[in-house]
Parts: sequence; C-alpha cells; structure tokens
Amino acid sequence: MKVCVIGGAGYIGSHAVYELIRAKHEVVVIDNLSTGTKDAVHEKAKLYLGDITKKEELHEIFAIECAKKPFDAVMHFAAKIVVPESVEKPLEYYHNNVEGVRVMLETMRDFKIKNIVFSSTAAVYGDVKKDLCLEEDPCAPINPYGETKLASEKMIQWVCKAYDMNYCIFRYFNVAGADESLEIGLKRDNLTHIIPITVQTALGIRPSMIVFGNDYPTEDGTCIRDYIHVADLAYAHVLGAKYICDNHVSLTLNLGSNNGFSVLDVIKEVEKYHPVKYTFGPGRAGDPAKLIASSTKAKEILGWIPRRSLADIIKTDIEFRKKHELKK
Ligand SMILES: NC(=O)c1ccc[n+]([C@@H]2O[C@H](COP(=O)([O-])OP(=O)(O)OC[C@H]3O[C@@H](n4cnc5c(N)ncnc54)[C@H](O)[C@@H]3O)[C@@H](O)[C@H]2O)c1
Repeated sequence: MKVCVIGGAGYIGSHAVYELIRAKHEVVVIDNLSTGTKDAVHEKAKLYLGDITKKEELHEIFAIECAKKPFDAVMHFAAKIVVPESVEKPLEYYHNNVEGVRVMLETMRDFKIKNIVFSSTAAVYGDVKKDLCLEEDPCAPINPYGETKLASEKMIQWVCKAYDMNYCIFRYFNVAGADESLEIGLKRDNLTHIIPITVQTALGIRPSMIVFGNDYPTEDGTCIRDYIHVADLAYAHVLGAKYICDNHVSLTLNLGSNNGFSVLDVIKEVEKYHPVKYTFGPGRAGDPAKLIASSTKAKEILGWIPRRSLADIIKTDIEFRKKHELKK
C-alpha cells in the first residue's frame, strides 16, 4: 500500500510509520511539527511539512504525491491531545481536531482516496460506570478533547457514507512503551501519563510522584487501567488499513489488552529496575476505578492480538528514557 500518515512525526504516528515500513509499505508523512519532531520520522518515509487545517497545503502535497501514485489509505494522528488544555482552549481544539479532519476528508474526496484510518480514544465513552468497555456502549465525552474526537468520528462516518469511502476508527486505551529499536518513544515536555512519570521518577528525572487516590473499590485501592504497547497499537493500523482496502467495509474498534493493572502494579513493575518515591494524593474527579477495553472485536475481525506485556511496555520505556533523557 501507499499510505499517507498525517501526524506521523508524533508519538503514535511515528510508530505506525515504523510498522508500515517494516511491512514493506510506501509511506508519506505530513506533519506541522507542532508537537512532533523530524527525527522521529523513519528515514525511508518522505516527510512534508504541512498543516491539515490549511486546504491549500494539503492539496499541494496530495497533488504531487497522487500524480506519482494515488494513496491507498490515509492515517490520521494529527490531533491536539491534552485534556486540561482542551478545557482552557476549546476553540483551538475544535479548529485543529475537527476542522483538520474536515479539510482532510474534503481533500481525500477531491483526490478520490477511499480509505481512512482514524485515531480515536477511550475518552469518547466519557464517565464510564462499568469495568469492560464495548464499542457499542454509549458515547458521552466529558471534556472538549473527547468531544472533538467524537465529532470527528461522526463526520468521518457521514462523509464515508456520502462518498463511498471506508473508515477504520480505532479507540485507544492507555498507550505506552517505545519501539524496541529505541529510536522513537514518548517525548513530551509536560508528560501526564502514569508509565513515563513513574519511569522518570525511578530514573531520578523527577524527585517523586503522586498516586491519585488509594481508596477506590479495587484490590489495592488504586485505579485499574488497560495498557497497550505502542508497537502493538501501531501494528493494528497496518492490519486495519489493509482490511478496509481489501474488503471495502468500515469498522470502529477498541484497542486495548482486555487486561487491567493498578497504579501500584505499574510501580511494582518499575521497581524491579529502580526504586520509585511516591506519595498518595486524593483521587481525581471523573477518574473511574477500573477501565478495561474489550478488544475482542479487533481480534475477531483483524486477527490482532497484542504481543507485548506490561513488563515489555515498562522495559522499553525505561530503556528509551535512559538513552534519550539521562545525561551521559
Ligand atoms: N497518546 C495517547 O495515549 C492517546 C490515547 C488515545 C488516543 N490518542 C490519539 O492518538 C493520536 C496521536 O496521539 P499522540 O500521542 O501520538 O500525539 P502527538 O502529539 O505525539 O502526535 C500528534 C502529531 O500530529 C501533529 N499535528 C498536530 N496538529 C497538526 C496539524 N494541524 N497538521 C499537521 N500535523 C499536526 C503533531 O506535530 C504531532 O506530530 C491523536 O489523534 C490522539 O487523539 C492518543
């Protein structure tokens, strides 16, 4: 396949590019480098600097590339993703995340590109009251970030219906870890994810960390979440793109591990390498005690099975941060 990866210089997009290239596909990346970096883009992928909210920029790139060979599929990772920031700046989030998707779909329609793979999120489900999340569960986001992803999902569905296109929407749960090459991983100034924060604390990059809540109705009192290795997640995109291209169907699928681990489980796993200094703080509003994805549908339809464990996620994140963040 020839695949256009929009947002392919970011954390998850760069891993999807690595997996596409490993599977011998041709890759073109479009990114405005607002949070992504050039060095995260695989050397075999062609990188264009471009902003998907700007129609002229996207059209110009599609015109150059499609004149050589049309894209079989487009993958979209180009979103702003920080929940508290989305509450402070909802207009920026709607502009980048929703208008960006609109311009991308319009460009795909103009160039007759039929297949779109879209990064969505468990945040579309909102304040979940049950342990295991199914794709059919009601969606009721509780912040502007989740709303922009749900609005994008719906736009994609209507546009695909109107113009005879196919979509594969993936709703991710907690993504973590780094590619085993250690060339790419999660690099960000203000990390909010539990695994990199725990690893940074263990490596002395942070003095200590706070565990939010130890009185949830779980075995050890801390929240339980479903963690998925970024390389497994990225590989699902290769399978999803191939599936919709070959079968001309549309899919909405959760990507998780069907397994839950508590915050203390994560800390214990990191402590196999280095001790972690932590204190308990109050639980956060809107944080459910337990959230696990049912990924049965992705397994049944795509034959996708996450191959890496929580131990693999933590090992690769530690090795990545030792290589890129610890001063020599
Ligand atoms: N990281 C997670 O845990 C997580 C969880 C659920 C869903 N997601 C979804 O996965 C996708 C990727 O997330 P990520 O963690 O890799 O984020 P990221 O910030 O690392 O990557 C986003 C990439 O898109 C680029 N970009 C943003 N706006 C753009 C624009 N207007 N034009 C061109 N490029 C643009 C950025 O420069 C960056 O390279 C997002 O859609 C996000 O909603 C992420």
